[in-house]
Formats: sequence, structure tokens, C-alpha cells
Amino acid sequence: MASVPTTQKALEVVQFGDPLKGTLKLNKEAPVPKPGDGQVLVEMKYACLNPADVFTVQGIYPGVKNVTEKKPGFVAGLEGSGKVVATGSGCSLKAGTRVVPLLGERAGSWQQYLVVSEKQCIPVPDDVDDATAAQLFVNPLTVVGMLDEIQQKAPVKDNPWIVQTAANSTLGRMFIQLARKRGLKTINVIRTSATKQELVQLGADEVVVVSEESELSKKILQLTGGKGAAAVVDAVGGEIGTACCSSLAKGGLFQGYGLQSGQPIQVSNSDLIFKDIVIRGFWLAIWFPKQPSSVVQEVFDMLRKKELVPHIQKIFALEDYLEAFKAQFSPDRRGKILFKLT
Ligand SMILES: NC(=O)c1ccc[n+]([C@@H]2O[C@H](COP(=O)([O-])OP(=O)(O)OC[C@H]3O[C@@H](n4cnc5c(N)ncnc54)[C@H](OP(=O)(O)O)[C@@H]3O)[C@@H](O)[C@H]2O)c1
Repeated sequence: MASVPTTQKALEVVQFGDPLKGTLKLNKEAPVPKPGDGQVLVEMKYACLNPADVFTVQGIYPGVKNVTEKKPGFVAGLEGSGKVVATGSGCSLKAGTRVVPLLGERAGSWQQYLVVSEKQCIPVPDDVDDATAAQLFVNPLTVVGMLDEIQQKAPVKDNPWIVQTAANSTLGRMFIQLARKRGLKTINVIRTSATKQELVQLGADEVVVVSEESELSKKILQLTGGKGAAAVVDAVGGEIGTACCSSLAKGGLFQGYGLQSGQPIQVSNSDLIFKDIVIRGFWLAIWFPKQPSSVVQEVFDMLRKKELVPHIQKIFALEDYLEAFKAQFSPDRRGKILFKLT
């Protein structure tokens, strides 16, 4: 561990609440941990700022243990990329290997060094850069997973229409690209018209601006020739999610996967009974462990071929975390906010 320092910078959640109001603190003297048996020390290059991280700081994300246990005083950040700089005994990964550490419920990518089991590391191919690799896990794999579920469980053979809410999100943009590649058609629901053309250029078949429609569900019915959508993927909930859900075709599948409005959807019993619709959630943490390891290689391939493009809005130093959060909350944001760590 000769070239590894003993202390590091780490962005800690010191209390739950608004990320702009003193809930985070940059610790410049956090200890650099040592890897135990089967563990590696990863020097982090980049980490993402995802919505789930915002919810973590707010104390409302049940996917992170410190949140469910209501214990602030931890480093947040669910994903990132780096390289192995030291290994514990019994490891086969070599120092210098570029990796994406899978952190799961303990989180912790917003720091310069972290220890993780080598089994939880995905090696990064040479031709995928660090900033792209930092975004490998959360969004691209969720897009693949939701589309796999739709193709297995929704009536898309007779009806290719899928509705997605929050379509302007980083994930939503990739969903447009991959759905088109798989021969499906997307109706993309967004809040304002500013990004309509950008989504069309990415391959959106239809873009619906909520503020321009008096009745969202009627618009979707009209766009699907009166049939309704075979599937809805909803990151918003509330009125928008409810309207999209009621526009499902017979046998249609609703997948809720995001908490953006913080509001629940309402489902009509009539739709459940007479249209036999299915309401489900999608969470990567449940879906991914059931997949073969080849799914990761498929995503690396798509990233390489630019079939999936995870757009970066801006990269910030950890010290500038307040600016990073302001950029995250800006209505003009079009891609991911990243932290550059080393
Ligand atoms: N379940 C899972 O396993 C899983 C995995 C990955 C991601 N996700 C979820 O996927 C979603 C997209 O992730 P991302 O990283 O791509 O996010 P992102 O780039 O930060 O985009 C967030 C989107 O949410 C929209 N939004 C925010 N508040 C809204 C509201 N009240 N009403 C309507 N729209 C609202 C924004 O709309 P504007 O463009 O109009 O600002 C933006 O398009 C997030 O909800 C994230 O938590 C879930």
C-alpha cells in the first residue's frame, strides 16, 4: 500500500434532509480502509449523483441500510468507477484493474478510497472510459431489465406501444434508444416542451408534454389507435403515473420504478378486473442478482457501440458538492452529474 495515503476526502451525510441545507459534510481526514481477506481497496475515479442518492440524503430511500436504520453519519453514493490499488489475501484481481464496485445497501461511492469484496467488482474493459463505466450499473442495467420484463410479460407482440414518464431523464433517454433497437415504440411523457426535439432525435416515436394536454390518458389512447399501451414504465407516480396506468391496453403491464413526485398512483378496480392489467414494481437490486453475468457484457457492448449513450451534464470536484446538487436540481439539466474523486 506504499502509494496509498492514510486519509482521504469523503462526502458524508451528517443528517437527513435537504442536500443544500447542511446535511452533507466533506471530511478531508477520513481514514483509508484496509482490505481484508477476499477484499480489494478501490481508488475511485468518478462517482454518480443519482436520484436515489438524493433520496438517500433526504432519508427516504429504503435501498440504503443507514436510511432504513435512520443512522446518518455515512458516505452516500450508489455507483462509480475506479481501480484496484491493494488486495487482501486470496484475491485474484490484480492491482491496476479498473473496476465498477457494486456497493448495494451500504452505498459509499462519494469517497476517494473504498473497500469492497472482489466478488462485488465488475472489471471494466480497456475501451470503456472511466466516466462511462461510472454510469454502467444503475441506469443502463435498469433499462435492459425493464425492457426484458416488458418483452416477457406485456402483450407487445400485437401492440408495440410503451409509455414512459420522466422521459427526459438520463435513463429515459437510454430507454428510448434501446426500445427502438428492440422494435418497440415509445410514447414519452415529459413536463415541458423544451426537450421535445432532442427526444425525437434520439428515436422517440411520440413525445407528449403534460402541460399541453387536458387529458393525458385520452392522448395516449389516441396515439395508440384506441387500443391503449402494452406497457407503462413510470418513474413519477401521482397524477401522471395514474393517467398513464389508466391508458393501458387489455393485459397491459405497469412497472413503477421511480419516486419522483413522491405521490402514489391510483388504480381502478375496473381496469384490474376487466382489462386484467398487471401492476408491478421494478428494482435493479432485485432483478440484477437473478441475471447471468453476460448481461453486464451486453451493456458494455451497447456502450461501446454507442447504442446506449449515458450523457454527462457536468463533472464536479467533491469539494464543490453544493454546486453539484444545484446543477442536479436545475431544470436545464440534460444528463448525469458526476464527482471526480482522484
Ligand atoms: N427502480 C430502479 O431500480 C431504478 C434504477 C435506476 C433509476 N431509477 C429511477 O429512474 C428515474 C430516472 O433516473 P435518472 O438517473 O435518469 O434521473 P434524472 O436524469 O435525474 O432525471 C429525473 C427525471 O425526473 C423528472 N421529474 C422529477 N420530478 C418530477 C415530478 N415531480 N414530476 C414529473 N417528473 C419529474 C425530471 O423531469 P424534468 O426533465 O422535467 O426535470 C427528470 O426527467 C429516477 O426516478 C430514478 O430513481 C430506478
